[in-house]
Amino acid sequence: MPRYQRHVFVCVNKRPPEDPKGCCSAKGSEEVRALFKKGLKERGLNRIVRANAAGCLDACGFGATVVIYPEAVWYGGVTTGDVEEIIQRHVIGGEVVERLVMKAYAGGPDRFPPLRME
Ligand code: FES
Repeated sequence: MPRYQRHVFVCVNKRPPEDPKGCCSAKGSEEVRALFKKGLKERGLNRIVRANAAGCLDACGFGATVVIYPEAVWYGGVTTGDVEEIIQRHVIGGEVVERLVMKAYAGGPDRFPPLRME
């Protein structure tokens, strides 16, 4: 069995305020990542699900950007208010949170196997 069943990558890339591309950090992604880590740890899931800080995921206009593997589901505009729902529905339940899926990356299955809790 693989060590981690899911990886949550949160872009925490920072750019100067004058950069026209913007960045996920300016949209609160560091707080988003901290909440993923906290929420997974509180549930004892940090041994089977990893929340990683990522560099730019090349979806800057849709930030804060979060991608979850192995499903390769891309979420955009993620805020701290969305983290609990993503943990409950997607990370644990295997259900895609459709309203947050980036339009450009939509079209995959809407359900995946839930976590195996042993
Ligand atoms: S800065 Fe986050 S995707 Fe590029």
